[in-house]
Amino acid sequence: MLFSLSSWIALIATLLCTLRAVYLDKWATADLQGSSVHESPRNVEGPNRWTMSDGNVAIGTEPDNIFYFVQVPFLILTPHSTAWSSISKANTMILTVIRPAYISIPIERIHYSFPAFSQVGSSNHQHLAEWKVYEKALSESGVVDGWYDLRGNHDCFDVPGWYDTANMYKDYAVSSRRLEEGQGVYEWEISKGTGKYKFVAFDACPKRGPSRPFNFFGYMPSSGMNRLADSIIGPEDREPYNHTMVFAHYPTTTVAFGTSDDGYTYTDLANQFSVYFCGHLHKLLGGLGDALKGYDPKTHSLELELGDMKDHASYRIVAVDHDLISFVDVNLPLPQIPFTAPNIPKAIDGESILPESIDMPPVVLITNPKEAKWILQYKEPVARIAQSKALRFLIFTQEQDPNSLRVEITIDGIEHPYPAQYKGVGVPNGIGQGYTPLWTSEWDPQSFNDMEEHTLRITVTDSAGRQGVDESVFKVNGARIDINGGPGEWIIWSKLSLSLKRCCILVIGSILALLLIPKLYSDYTPIGSPRYTSAARDPILKRIHTLSKEPHTLANRTRYHVWLWTLRCIDLPRNMPVVWAGTLIYTLMLISLPWFKGEFIPVAQKSEDRYGLFYLSGLRISDEWVPLADTWMFALFEIIFGLAAFVVIWIWRATDSADLHCSGTSRIRTLNERAWFKALVVIMWLWRASEVLALGSFYGGVWPTLVQNSIIWWLLFAGVAIATGKDGIFVRRSVKERNSSIWGRCIICHKSTTDQEEDDTRRSLLDNIDDDPGSHSSSSSSTTESLQGFNVIKVRKSRK
Ligand SMILES: *[C@@H]1O[C@H](CO)[C@@H](O)[C@H](O)[C@H]1NC(C)=O
Repeated sequence: MLFSLSSWIALIATLLCTLRAVYLDKWATADLQGSSVHESPRNVEGPNRWTMSDGNVAIGTEPDNIFYFVQVPFLILTPHSTAWSSISKANTMILTVIRPAYISIPIERIHYSFPAFSQVGSSNHQHLAEWKVYEKALSESGVVDGWYDLRGNHDCFDVPGWYDTANMYKDYAVSSRRLEEGQGVYEWEISKGTGKYKFVAFDACPKRGPSRPFNFFGYMPSSGMNRLADSIIGPEDREPYNHTMVFAHYPTTTVAFGTSDDGYTYTDLANQFSVYFCGHLHKLLGGLGDALKGYDPKTHSLELELGDMKDHASYRIVAVDHDLISFVDVNLPLPQIPFTAPNIPKAIDGESILPESIDMPPVVLITNPKEAKWILQYKEPVARIAQSKALRFLIFTQEQDPNSLRVEITIDGIEHPYPAQYKGVGVPNGIGQGYTPLWTSEWDPQSFNDMEEHTLRITVTDSAGRQGVDESVFKVNGARIDINGGPGEWIIWSKLSLSLKRCCILVIGSILALLLIPKLYSDYTPIGSPRYTSAARDPILKRIHTLSKEPHTLANRTRYHVWLWTLRCIDLPRNMPVVWAGTLIYTLMLISLPWFKGEFIPVAQKSEDRYGLFYLSGLRISDEWVPLADTWMFALFEIIFGLAAFVVIWIWRATDSADLHCSGTSRIRTLNERAWFKALVVIMWLWRASEVLALGSFYGGVWPTLVQNSIIWWLLFAGVAIATGKDGIFVRRSVKERNSSIWGRCIICHKSTTDQEEDDTRRSLLDNIDDDPGSHSSSSSSTTESLQGFNVIKVRKSRK
């Protein structure tokens, strides 16, 4: 018996539960793994088609080799709240003014109301009226071709499955048939001039959509990755596309990408495509994500998030000019869009819902020279910039006659000597009709070819005085410059769904280590030796006593606290065995058992489709795994604030402060023994309890979510421990006296308790005098004080 029985049990239980946790995780994410029946995947390095010498296609003043399209985050607001009419207006404007080659729409309906404030749960569901409005807006605009829509996470809130009636996207969206046939992936192509372009859209929504809040992340199972790889990589002998672009609702950081059966990962795909367009994060909060855009230097691909229609009324125009990709993010003139509540029933009953067009200032998009921070190395023919004959830009305006526009061009603030000329083709008469409002102006790139950054600025004023501006910071040699996107760029590349999982595992691992290692260490007894329970503890305590008498340098204080906390960890299983065991059991339950039962999809008919179990690695609904990273996000918060924080408090309390002093009394309170600290602990407990109650309000109320819920039972356990356990708030604190000073000597460090203190005083007294030999008179008061202190100790001693 190297360890005590309790240690053995704890050790074996931890091993078994860890094995089960690994097994559960493998099982839950089996859909992402891919069958891997094939050998190693085909080498899919990026196309590398363009070398710096390639410039055989000259960029001139002709309206050739150029097309553009629009990306709109399409948000319909709930009938109870504000206006979908803004969307219809945007729609009208984009359709009548911009007339793109196509429009790509990650639809997403946004709900302002929160269950707690409106009818319970109502904002979580799909609303038929919203979809009818959407369908009607499209039919009134005459949109048939060139409109590609995709589901967002709000469109799969509370949706039991693709074929369920709650999946209104299936019945009302334009591209639902394509998406269904491609089982989550669809694609289309455009040919323009000498170029051939491919566009791929995919749906990463959960196959069973829980209602909020566990519906923020997306995932792409192997089956979906197979189809994505087919679309993006294709067979080996396929003619390459000039550019492949990908559309999704979720930024990659919020998607768990699986591996295809051929072994292709997301990186293999990114090597092949140029740009990943997405929405979802709504520019985040407080301007943090103002630039949720990033360039991945490994795969040479761009990821461009677009703010939303709700708060920012943003949309994006993307132009591809001689294979150089440029874009501009535009905000609608919000003040002009009244947020009136529409009369939805009336609209559905046949009245026109398309509002008049709004007053739009001109929108300018520079396509040559392309902005240097969005350059795609190896995927764009950047050498064409240096050989180009003209500046090129698109102007979108409500003005009928292009020549009534006033166009001002400056480079580095200096007026450009050549005039701007309208070279557009076509008339604005529908999506995909080849309308191209191109403008050009001659230039000589060589006079700017000095490896430096230059700024081209184009200002357009229409006859009503409305202005539009675009700027391009370019380099003629086609070199990239950093995006400098700050936190937004960091978020794009942070692999949030993976990091959450890793953090969670790290925190759980640390908690288990804190609980187990000190216990095993203090229990360890070599075979044949008698068990002596304080063998590990006493040397540490002795160090603490010694260190507490050393001079208070930083190094000493640090060492003191390291030993102190080590001692506390060792004391937890000794002094609070029930709390220790309970914490260990709860931690092991978290990794190996479901946390709680919840009504995740209330709209479902059958109860097994409605209710599911929450596991760390995913939700399990009706014998199927939904491996959303939402579980890791929830778990991370719960484990840090609902478990780790309590573990720290238990450890803190484990050692009696009386033990820390040679005198053996606990008259000196440590921080955690003070009343205000205990009040904080109570507040934290109440906060955690309120979070669990909120969870219950989301997912089915008292019986399923609150009773069949290990968090609740843990909180009750923790509450009892806080209140009545060691140093609990209801435990009257008596001044404890450790029976440590036998004949005035500390049994731990074998120093005379009183002599030691006397020594200290005497030494500091001498120090005081020695420090300041020249000024006896000035230090006399402190000397008296010290002497008085000395006397006090003398008196105390003599009383003993
Ligand atoms: C498209 O690619 C082909 C071959 O890779 C190239 O010759 C052509 O110039 C490209 N088209 C455009 C518009 O750049």
